[in-house]
Amino acid sequence: MCGIVGYTGSGEAYPILIKGLKRLEYRGYDSSGVALMNGKLGVHKCKGKVADLEAHVGANDTSGSAGIGHTRWATHGEPNDINAHPHCSMSGELVLIHNGIIENYDSIKRELVKRGYVFESDTDTEVLVNLIEEVKKNEKCSLSEAVRKSLNEVIGAYAIVVMSKSEPGVLVAARKSSPLVIGLGKGEFYIASDATPIVEYTKNVVYLEDGQIAELKPGEEMRLFNIKNQSVTPYIQELELQLEQLEKGGYEHFMLKEIYEQPRSVLDSMRGRILIDKGIVQLGGMAEYEQKLINADRIIFVACGTSWHAGLVGEYLIEDLARISVEVEYASEFRYRNPIITEKDVVIAISQSGETADTLAALELAKSKGATILGICNVVGSSIARVTHGGSYTHAGPEIGVASTKAFTSQVTVLSLLALMLAQKKGTIQRRRYQELLVELSSIPDKIETALEANTLIEIISAKFQNARNFLYLGRGYCFPVALEGALKLKEISYIHAEGYPAAEMKHGPIALIDEEMPVVVIATQGPSYEKVVSNIQEVKARKGVIIAIVTEGDKMVKEMADYTIEIPKIAECFSPLLASIPLQLLAYHIAVMRECNVDQPRNLAKSVTVE
Ligand code: G6P
Repeated sequence: MCGIVGYTGSGEAYPILIKGLKRLEYRGYDSSGVALMNGKLGVHKCKGKVADLEAHVGANDTSGSAGIGHTRWATHGEPNDINAHPHCSMSGELVLIHNGIIENYDSIKRELVKRGYVFESDTDTEVLVNLIEEVKKNEKCSLSEAVRKSLNEVIGAYAIVVMSKSEPGVLVAARKSSPLVIGLGKGEFYIASDATPIVEYTKNVVYLEDGQIAELKPGEEMRLFNIKNQSVTPYIQELELQLEQLEKGGYEHFMLKEIYEQPRSVLDSMRGRILIDKGIVQLGGMAEYEQKLINADRIIFVACGTSWHAGLVGEYLIEDLARISVEVEYASEFRYRNPIITEKDVVIAISQSGETADTLAALELAKSKGATILGICNVVGSSIARVTHGGSYTHAGPEIGVASTKAFTSQVTVLSLLALMLAQKKGTIQRRRYQELLVELSSIPDKIETALEANTLIEIISAKFQNARNFLYLGRGYCFPVALEGALKLKEISYIHAEGYPAAEMKHGPIALIDEEMPVVVIATQGPSYEKVVSNIQEVKARKGVIIAIVTEGDKMVKEMADYTIEIPKIAECFSPLLASIPLQLLAYHIAVMRECNVDQPRNLAKSVTVE
């Protein structure tokens, strides 16, 4: 993962780099660093977050109108000062930042060692910068040419930016399988892993494609070419992103802001896609593939983490409403297990970032086997969005908290729309039910608003359980994925061990763990399996487990049994994940805050996982 930024122009680079790194910290925060060109080359880097870097830099000279910066999620080498980026070549002539992994770094390193190179760090990045130096020295070529030639020898994934002392002000950037965006200012350029550090300065951007290299000189046009040295015309796009979307807006944490944004983000996911009066659901980017989807042997969702949980909800929705066979796969398993994929399959990637390396690779595998590949992504212009035949954006807006909240409910919203669209086209749903479900789905934003009103109660409950060592989350049917997602949220940000389980499966294992120390969160909303869930609650109570139940408003039976109940509004069962997940997000949030955990940047995690 890692976040990278760069600037060259007539302004001061350092403040732009620091601000940019803070925006990209969601991509990793093991260490950070900057390199500034100012006649000489200044490199400042250290273990820890960007705030630690600022303290480390202190009153040192940070002048320079060209610079690069990096925030790291460690792959090769532990997070320490030496392994922090930027990395200089042995002579100190070149400096480089890198997001990705150079797979053949070991063989290149051995070759360079033979030629007298000495390495300070354990990183693959230091190998790459020295390879470029060696090529530049031997070929007596420009920096951009040395980068191009070197990258022809490299196997792996990279987004890199390089500077050379001998070409002051010039930045050379390249990408393969890791994202890179270039912002075009007036005589100046901005580079970043995504558009968030750039939007403040310019709306005109170029997303680099795999195998492309950009040479950026202040006051000149950007020069874009590919690894085979063919010139490419840059495709300039206008950013839709707004700066306010990237600020906390008065909330203590981005995660809380994003939880509270859900009435709006879910509405944005539906906007223009449901025409209740006409009884129409339209998903523009999927329309062309409607027949493919309806006639597919299987729809296969590939995803990771929270997006995989959304995929599970999608499976329940599409099988239930549209009667099309669905499989949900962890992208990392799917791609390595020699799966059977045919031209009659439709493979849909679900990804907030649109950059998750395993999900991207799973899609490429499916594409190579002739399947139609579609995407449900949040980040516009992301790699997955670009590689797919078609798809739908979730339009949740930027999600900055590492733990996904609004992206999940937006994914489930788009999947609900997809299921309804397919059901209607395939004729597997009665007109009346279809109309009812359209109305129900449209009511979700208001009902999320109501569900959020339980915040104070959830805070009180959180205080009681903040020191618990384990949690169990149980759900059935549509709410089984919600149980998984609730447990994931808690472990991600509070570091309390939590397991999500299908409620009926509890008796095949987890029941052995239940005692008076074990809080059990049960999603016991109204639906066909309500009575069965009630029996599962009895089983927990019989073993002195403590029950926190999520119930439908007006519930009586569970209220009598549970130790704590949190109500959500009544909703059609198939849309219950959209409401039931809200209190679980708040529960995880408050517990994490009470445990003084870093809610927005939990340890060891990153938001965009661009390594396999
Ligand atoms: C990381 C994030 C999760 C996310 C998962 C998949 O683990 O921390 O929040 O669900 O990656 O990411 P994607 O961007 O593909 O949805």
